[in-house]
Amino acid sequence: MKVTGSIAMVTGGASGLGAGAARRLVAGGAEVVLVDLNEDAGRAMESELGSAVSFVRGDVSDTDSIAAAIDTALDERGGIGILVNAAGIAPAARVISRDGALFDLELFRKVISINLIGMFDVIRRVAAVMAQNPPGDDGEKGVIVNVASIAAFEGQIGQAAYSASKGGVVGMTLPIARDLASLGIRVVTIAPGIMDTPLLADAPDELKDALAGLQLFPRRLGTPDDFARLVEAIVTIPMLNGEVIRLDAGARMPPR
Ligand SMILES: NC(=O)c1ccc[n+]([C@@H]2O[C@H](COP(=O)([O-])OP(=O)(O)OC[C@H]3O[C@@H](n4cnc5c(N)ncnc54)[C@H](O)[C@@H]3O)[C@@H](O)[C@H]2O)c1
Repeated sequence: MKVTGSIAMVTGGASGLGAGAARRLVAGGAEVVLVDLNEDAGRAMESELGSAVSFVRGDVSDTDSIAAAIDTALDERGGIGILVNAAGIAPAARVISRDGALFDLELFRKVISINLIGMFDVIRRVAAVMAQNPPGDDGEKGVIVNVASIAAFEGQIGQAAYSASKGGVVGMTLPIARDLASLGIRVVTIAPGIMDTPLLADAPDELKDALAGLQLFPRRLGTPDDFARLVEAIVTIPMLNGEVIRLDAGARMPPR
């Protein structure tokens, strides 16, 4: 699918990786609808990127809010051809903490509800919209890019809930691609390594240096634009489908 002239929805698009994808898609000639909880950051993206961008406040774990956000996107832009699912949270807790407290099940449910069930809800709703698009080259009607994490494969201490949610995203990639193939919709998941986003904003420089040392080459943290370039490649290369792509400079995470 061409980026120029397409309409994209980006969840989590007010910050970090989603914002990076939105910037690159707009630079490539797309219109972008950002769906995010963070109203201030979303409005700032609208001011920065101008009329090609609309912000809609939405919570991916609230199905009515997502249905309303998609309706707004359709009213304002007329369709959706690209979906980037970047909304997510990454709270850490041990199964049993040092003081003996058990992992809070409500926290576990919240992570699954946002990172996995919320993503699936957005996918099913947006796929129904994409199915109405006229077919393009190769009969293509839509491209869905999900964000997992290398924590799906090498979760660290404290990442039981986060890794479970991202492992779910990895696991559902192929069956969703199979389900949507007859509609001309591709599905690809990116599993980023350590990316320099607001998720790491409060980390001290020494920690960032230590994390950068985990990459084989290049030995630096990934950037939102590294992520955005892979999103652009996935959108434009029609043979990419049903796959999970690590974006981690060869890093393999140790236990801590
Ligand atoms: N930064 C990293 O190192 C890294 C590594 C691997 C995977 N990821 C994944 O990348 C994605 C983006 O993370 P980021 O680093 O850009 O973080 P970020 O915090 O900068 O951005 C995440 C955005 O998601 C939004 N969001 C959170 N919950 C939401 C909800 N319920 N509904 C709608 N929006 C919601 C936040 O408001 C925020 O704007 C996440 O899924 C994260 O798990 C990040």
